[in-house]
Amino acid sequence: MKDNRNILVTGGAGFIGSHTVVELINKGFNPVIVDDFRNSEAKVLKGIKAIVGQDPIMRFVDVTNKEQLKAVFEEFSFSGIIHFAAYKAVGESVAKPLVYYRNNIDGLLNCLELAEEFKVLNFVFSSSCTVYGEPKGTKIVTELSEMQEANSPYGATKQMCERIISDVHKSGSKMRMLNLRYFNPVGAHPTGNIGELPIGRPNNLIPYITQTAAGLLNELTVYGNDYNTNDGTCVRDYIHVVDLAEAHIKGYEWLNNLSEPRTETINVGTGNGTSVLEIIHTFEKVSNQSLNWKFGPRRDGDVEEIFADTSKAQELIGWNADRTIEDAIADAWNWEKKRRDE
Ligand code: UFG
Repeated sequence: MKDNRNILVTGGAGFIGSHTVVELINKGFNPVIVDDFRNSEAKVLKGIKAIVGQDPIMRFVDVTNKEQLKAVFEEFSFSGIIHFAAYKAVGESVAKPLVYYRNNIDGLLNCLELAEEFKVLNFVFSSSCTVYGEPKGTKIVTELSEMQEANSPYGATKQMCERIISDVHKSGSKMRMLNLRYFNPVGAHPTGNIGELPIGRPNNLIPYITQTAAGLLNELTVYGNDYNTNDGTCVRDYIHVVDLAEAHIKGYEWLNNLSEPRTETINVGTGNGTSVLEIIHTFEKVSNQSLNWKFGPRRDGDVEEIFADTSKAQELIGWNADRTIEDAIADAWNWEKKRRDE
């Protein structure tokens, strides 16, 4: 007999995973984290406990090791899987394509094979707006917008994983599967107990800003000021990580209520585009301090402008983002200060 509350969360100690675990526990689910801390830290578990008042269940597992992962399926009876565990750095994927293909594809295949073997019906996959590449024409993308060739091996793994999920569905699988195409996840839990923990020098904009403001880095370089956008800097759809976590809960509940096998894909963004300069000015406003920054050359592989059409998420799973970019930046800054004080 399946316990409807047991959900396997691969990569549950990571940035998006840990926030989703908190929301799952808040909603009465029983998430089981599998992680090997290769891109996170054990102290995340303490942060989760500080928010929800209980130790999260965690098994130290390399998701690409099928025997290790199978042991978790033997121990717990899952009604669903949320699969986060994957590598995610665009630049690193260009330097180490084999590592990215091996890790991201093997992890998914192991999860799907074990889901079939143990008859786990619900599956949520962490996809990315990177699958759209540089949008042609309008910068607001719907799930039906044409995918361009991926501009990195990382992006190619996300396209391939979605293809694998689609092929499994077409083969007659009983599973109900949902691809969530995340736009730019930012922010932190409002309590400041969990947040983003970049290992080494951050690649992403918001942690680079907060670490610069905290004095760990000297200066932010804004990559390019000659793009064809309002102020010449790139535009993204930044989504608060707690909104994103809530999208997983809504998506999971929607899957669990389906009576037929189905595969769907939805954009998870706010529908608003924000430029790099707007992010810097918002940071300066919410933190009440000025940031040390300069313009530099464009970064290879950057998309000029992209943001989400979110109507499908609203219609299908009844989700839309509640939090503003000010909320996200204030929470990211609160987290940065809090963890420096520890
Ligand atoms: N940026 C800077 N300076 C920095 C860091 C970033 O100017 O030090 C700019 C980038 O050029 C870009 C914007 O800030 O214009 C956002 O950059 P991020 O690195 O934070 O995010 P990306 O949009 O490049 O990448 C994100 C995810 C990827 C995903 C991609 C899809 O991190 O996983 O979106 O477009 F694949």
